[in-house]
Amino acid sequence: MNKFALKPGFRAAVIGGAGGIGLAIVKELRGLGAEVSATGISEAEIKACEIDGDVRFSVLDVTNGAAVSAYAEETGPVDLLVNCAGILRRDEEYELDVFRQVLEVNLIGTMAICLAFREGLAERKGSIVNIASMNAFAALPRLPGYCASKGGVVMLTRSLALAWAAEGIRVNAVAPGFIETNINAEGRKDEAHYQKIADRTAFKRWGQPDDVTGTVAYLAMPAAAYVTGAVYAVDGGFLAG
Ligand code: NAI
Repeated sequence: MNKFALKPGFRAAVIGGAGGIGLAIVKELRGLGAEVSATGISEAEIKACEIDGDVRFSVLDVTNGAAVSAYAEETGPVDLLVNCAGILRRDEEYELDVFRQVLEVNLIGTMAICLAFREGLAERKGSIVNIASMNAFAALPRLPGYCASKGGVVMLTRSLALAWAAEGIRVNAVAPGFIETNINAEGRKDEAHYQKIADRTAFKRWGQPDDVTGTVAYLAMPAAAYVTGAVYAVDGGFLAG
């Protein structure tokens, strides 16, 4: 057995798979031979995805419980579930409704998806990778909801890892640093801010979606069979010093 490969017939679902990091993960998994289902928030977002080969894309809002159940049902059992849907609302998260909405998508949405896929993951002895954030550990003052939600995703990951190990389900998280995607497109317009962040990393650059995908794939491989409840930083050394 090649420990650094996905097993034959590997099936994955990537929630938020039409976004910047999500689509890169979809492509990585496809390249490794996986059968991939993925979701976007709208037909328009899905249509904009440039992808070669066969990926089943569906529209899904993770805050819609009935839609989440239906999506898990039609997708069936998977070997890997990636939770990559997420939002932030810079400066607006001090309004309680907005704060609640961010928690609803990033944290409660992650839990809802994990619950919906649990049985199928147990059947295939699969694993979950939750996309958390560096902001689970280093807070930003303009994003109280986002930071709280990502801290929650880290602890949710650890709790589910303990709870579901007996069913053969591994649960891990990846905590990206600053990666160039739509989620931070507005903030990147400020050149001084952009450069300040680049300079703070060991590599003196922002990350690209492709920088995140290898760690996600590794966590789904037999090489990571003893890894659960772990949070892998992919932040270019931002938090190293
Ligand atoms: P993105 O904005 O390109 O992707 C976010 C995805 O979430 C989109 O596909 C969007 O449609 C989906 N989404 C939003 N609301 C949803 C809902 N209610 N239901 C279902 N899907 C929904 O941004 P990016 O950067 O690719 O974000 C992916 C994940 O990575 C997010 O969880 C984000 O918090 C996380 N992350 C991103 C970082 C970055 O610097 N770009 C850093 C750390 C974490």
